[in-house]
Amino acid sequence: MPTPPDPSIAVNLAGLPLRSPVLAAAGTAGVLDELADVLDLTHLGAIVTKSITRSPREGNSFPRITWARAGMLNAIGLANPGLDAWLSNIAPRIAGVPTNVFCSVAGDSIEDYAAIAKAMDETKSVPMIELNVSCPNVHSGLEFGADPAALGELVAAVRMVVNHAKLFVKLSPITVGTPNSLVDLARVAVDAGADGLTLCNTVPAMGIDVHTRKPILSNTTGGLSGPAIHPIIVRLVHLVYTQFAKDAGVEIIAAGGVTRWEDAAEFILAGANAVQIGAGLFADPRLPIKINKGLAKWVAKQGKSNISDFVGAVDLSDLTS
Ligand SMILES: Cc1cc2nc3c(=O)[nH]c(=O)nc-3n(C[C@H](O)[C@H](O)[C@H](O)COP(=O)(O)O)c2cc1C
Repeated sequence: MPTPPDPSIAVNLAGLPLRSPVLAAAGTAGVLDELADVLDLTHLGAIVTKSITRSPREGNSFPRITWARAGMLNAIGLANPGLDAWLSNIAPRIAGVPTNVFCSVAGDSIEDYAAIAKAMDETKSVPMIELNVSCPNVHSGLEFGADPAALGELVAAVRMVVNHAKLFVKLSPITVGTPNSLVDLARVAVDAGADGLTLCNTVPAMGIDVHTRKPILSNTTGGLSGPAIHPIIVRLVHLVYTQFAKDAGVEIIAAGGVTRWEDAAEFILAGANAVQIGAGLFADPRLPIKINKGLAKWVAKQGKSNISDFVGAVDLSDLTS
């Protein structure tokens, strides 16, 4: 019999009950339950699927993924089976997956995003839709997350057609403009109807093979994930939490370099309600079990009954007194 996560780490995410605040990040756990071969999925609060686009995509040519010294560099290019295949082959199997299945959506246009989200929502099998407005690895149409006006229009259009699922918007860690521009984008997304925020996607990056003098990835550039980006995202989560989300009552899912329970705990202290693991699953697909155990012990040791008590609870008193 699988051992379920300790009740002390069960959380409510935007009203959805999750057994654990630990989720599989989009694109790192397949399109449904592929991880089930190696991980009892009841250890995950949810799986976030690979981003689904309207048409099937083969993605970029190989090599499209490589190890970086402190993480991973990828330019998969949104390889996915497309909406029709999702509706006919994947949606009917969601009810049989022993955890929540959250669906990530990507598109080239506002119409694409709205059509995909509407079709998914109408199946009533998806408790949360995560809008990937921040994928750095495709050449067209995915700059919604960088442009406040386009982002607002996109989220509002999707909100109009999503009546059942919660709507989270996943932003890029790289924003132009003032240091607070991620806060501004977060506000735009929520004002347009998002229920919550996922922070963040990968950091645009590049590797070069010094022997061939060619870029390592066929796409030339890609996205960096893993431990290298963790402290960057901790800061961003804390920034958005303190400057916007806390007072607005908006929940945050943090993603970036979680490979130990301490990383997940750090995100929660910074202001996240849940965390996603991406690159860490490639190194150890059973990592969620270890992270759940570590978090449960931490909660008990700190003398609290539930992990939610730690959301945003970083102690800044020594710095300000
Ligand atoms: C191989 C790979 C594929 C990814 N595909 C997607 C995707 O389809 N949609 C998306 O929103 N994010 C995608 N991501 C980004 C992850 O969901 C996550 O935001 C990012 O990797 C940071 O988390 P990590 O440091 O734990 O990997 C992908 C990441 C990797 C490593």
